[in-house]
Order: sequence, then C-alpha cells, then structure tokens
Amino acid sequence: MRLVLLGPPGAGKGTQAQWLKERYGIPHLSTGDMLREAVAAGTEIGLKAKAVMERGELVSDEIMIGVIRDRLGRPDCAKGFVLDGFPRTVAQAEALEALLAERGEKLDAVIEFRVDAEALVARIAGRFACARCGAGYHERFKRPKVDGVCDQCGGTEFVRRADDNEEAVRRRLRAYVEQTAPLASFYRARGVLRTVDGMASIPEVTAAIARLLDGAGS
Ligand code: AP5
Ligand code: MG
Ligand code: ZN
Repeated sequence: MRLVLLGPPGAGKGTQAQWLKERYGIPHLSTGDMLREAVAAGTEIGLKAKAVMERGELVSDEIMIGVIRDRLGRPDCAKGFVLDGFPRTVAQAEALEALLAERGEKLDAVIEFRVDAEALVARIAGRFACARCGAGYHERFKRPKVDGVCDQCGGTEFVRRADDNEEAVRRRLRAYVEQTAPLASFYRARGVLRTVDGMASIPEVTAAIARLLDGAGS
C-alpha cells in the first residue's frame, strides 16, 4: 500500500499514520520527523533546516527530494509506505511521481484531511510528545492512559515542538494554503485523491480512512 497524507498543520496526519503503519505493516515516512532528527543530530541537512522550520517556512525542494529519494530506496519501502508531510509542493509531487515511475510503482491513494483553521490552532497548542519514543499526545484529545507516563514506552518526559508557537503556526498555515493545497487538484486529476473529514474525532477519522482504503492497493 502506497499512501500520501495531505493536510494542514495539526490536521492529524501523524496521528493517523501511526495506525496505518500498523494496519498495513508499512513504514511511516514523516519528513517533519526526519528533519527534526537531523536537527537534533546536527547533520548538514539539520543545520540548513533548523531556522527555516522554526520560522514555519518550507525547506527547499532540492533537500526534501534528496531525503525522500534516499529513504524510498531502503528495503523496508519495497512493499509500500505512508508518506506524511511529503510532497508539499508541485515540484515535490512531480519528483515523487518520477521516482515511483522508475520503480514501476504508483500511489494507491492520497488522503486529504479537511479541517478548519480554528480547530488547528487548538490542536497544535495542546500537542506534546514523549521525549523518549516520540509518541504523540494531546492535553484534551489524546491524554496518556496514566497521567505523565507514555503509553508506548513508559517514559515520563515530554516535549513540545519548537515550531508550535502562534507565529510559526500562522506561517505554516500560510505555506500550506499557498504551496501545498494545490496538490489536491494535482492528485484529483490523477484519480487518486480521497478526502476525509478531519474535524471528526480521532477514531472516527480512522474508521473513515479504513472504509475508503478497503479494497484499494495490495
Ligand atoms: P511537519 O512535521 O510535517 O508538520 P505539519 O505539516 O505542520 O504538521 P503537524 O505535524 O503539525 O500536524 P499533523 O497533521 O501531523 O497533526 P498531528 O497528528 O500531530 O513539518 C514541520 C516543518 O518541517 C514544516 O513546517 C517545514 O518547515 C518542514 N518540512 C517538513 N516536510 C517538508 C517538505 N516536504 N517540504 C518542505 N519542508 C518540509 O495532530 C495534532 C494534534 O491534534 C495532536 O496532539 C493530536 O493528538 C491531535 N489530534 C489529531 N487528530 C485529531 C482529531 N481528529 N480530533 C482531535 N484531536 C486530534
Ligand atoms: Mg505531524
Ligand atoms: Zn514513549
């Protein structure tokens, strides 16, 4: 199963990707997570991306396409993947199409999350993640089962993202509208676009995605 999750910051891409990864046994490729790892490790890409990400702008197509080319070439992607946060520009979408064509592959579906901007700000403001394993939580919508303890790994330290402040979130939303939203028509024209109501609860969105993927892909 080869999937792309398309949606604005806070839409729930990372949340639903966690479940898709388990359901289909495919890797979750979040370019945001990859860049945050590169920043933490101080690699060359991390050094270039850090300030851009903190401002809420997009990292260059050249860097991102290189990152994805390397990642898709690894053996765990042979049977599929769920891309979260890539492509984000038409140039990235065209590069992905060319990369897959070289391998004789195509996307099974591009899942677009429709959400309103008001809800996004609340979702991002309440978000935090486990410092040890990265599992994502929300103060109101997805609390750990035991307060202060990660459900996945038992970790007790949590972190917030450097770009989850109001100014950066506003810029991220603008970047989405101007540079990423046009991808909906790009993929509609190719017959792979599927839309879900991202305003529903987390389990309801999961169920909607399950329904639309039943019978798709392999
Ligand atoms: P990235 O990490 O991809 O951030 P983003 O797109 O802004 O998306 P988020 O991770 O904020 O949102 P999400 O949709 O994953 O929401 P989540 O599931 O966490 O990118 C960060 C930066 O990296 C970019 O700004 C850019 O600089 C750079 N970058 C990355 N990829 C790039 C690329 N391809 N090209 C150029 N630059 C790139 O949900 C949010 C919260 O809401 C959580 O707390 C969750 O628990 C909760 N929640 C989720 N679903 C629901 C629901 N249905 N109801 C209630 N609460 C919910
Ligand atoms: Mg995310
Ligand atoms: Zn954890």
